[in-house]
Amino acid sequence: MGRNGSLEAPGTRASTMLGTSKDSGYGIVTREDFSDVTFLLEIRHPLMAQAAQPGQFVIVMSHAEGERIPLTIADFDRGKGTITLVIQAVGKTTREMQQLCRIGTSLFALVGPMGVPSHVGGARKVTCVGGGLGVAPVFPQARAFKEAGAYVIGIIGFRTRALVFWEDKFRSCCDELIVCTDDGSMGVKGPVTEGIKRAIAAHPDIGEVVAIGPPLMMKACAEATRPHKINTMVSLNPVMVDGTGMCGGCRVRVGGQIKFACVDGPDFDGHQVDFEDLTTRLRRFATEEKSALDRWSESCRMTTPPEEAGGG
Ligand SMILES: Cc1cc2nc3c(=O)[nH]c(=O)nc-3n(C[C@H](O)[C@H](O)[C@H](O)COP(=O)(O)OP(=O)(O)OC[C@H]3O[C@@H](n4cnc5c(N)ncnc54)[C@H](O)[C@@H]3O)c2cc1C
Ligand code: FES
Repeated sequence: MGRNGSLEAPGTRASTMLGTSKDSGYGIVTREDFSDVTFLLEIRHPLMAQAAQPGQFVIVMSHAEGERIPLTIADFDRGKGTITLVIQAVGKTTREMQQLCRIGTSLFALVGPMGVPSHVGGARKVTCVGGGLGVAPVFPQARAFKEAGAYVIGIIGFRTRALVFWEDKFRSCCDELIVCTDDGSMGVKGPVTEGIKRAIAAHPDIGEVVAIGPPLMMKACAEATRPHKINTMVSLNPVMVDGTGMCGGCRVRVGGQIKFACVDGPDFDGHQVDFEDLTTRLRRFATEEKSALDRWSESCRMTTPPEEAGGG
């Protein structure tokens, strides 16, 4: 066990320069691509599957020289001994993982479970809201509320029908499900706040809302529930470095106080979060992130044979 009560990865395990190891313990047993940018990895790790709780995350290194990145545990199966990650390829590391993480390869390191588990209980009627990629991390909470005996209303939102994933998983653990699409190609036309308005109109006794997605979406959800005084939890994703409360990288402002998302969160009261501060801090490394991606894309072009790269 490591600091923060986490299960530590054996950092000395062999890895290939291609990005993922073929012989470490964290084997990828399933891969599913939901879209051009979003993909799922199911990873064999019986101890992590045993310890994981809804709302927690892991820090992953896909290869020995890779960056450590935080990813939410989107599902865990204690019987199979696996955890599931759903990843959006947005920058250098996540695009590299999209290219290299295949069934039969392994992650170099996996540390966790980290963060404070979500508080599940109390409310008899809850609404679990996921926007885009946020649909994955809110799933374990919806399931846990259902298992705790709550009436669960799921709201999942996407830009368009082609991007919808896990509708079936949500149907299996929700008493009601509202699907929202920005373009109206499926379900309710509009953002997830449209779904929240409908849920509150039909169920004035909703005791809690959990909303996970981009900061702007979570802010809008918190504003939609504020006039109704419904307790609203959001999951914050500031830039993280060590994940142990030491570096201060994940500092967020909640209720006028400084909190560290890695050890005090990542779940916080959405009505208290300073979303302006969060978005400003998320933009801080935009220049460095772009140059890391440019350098990696350039090295990919140099190492990929012309026919594979689509060249002549
Ligand atoms: C607790 C937590 C859980 C997360 N869960 C998921 C998840 O389940 N699936 C998923 O796809 N993404 C998740 N993220 C975000 C993920 O960690 C970043 O997308 C990833 O680190 C980006 O790395 P990159 O090199 O591909 O992109 P970069 O070029 O480094 O950055 C692209 C974007 O990601 C943000 N970012 C960069 N580094 C970090 C970091 N260390 N922590 C957080 N954000 C960062 C940047 O602000 C930028 O907007 C989570 C973040 C946190 C803090
Ligand atoms: S990531 Fe360093 S304090 Fe949270």
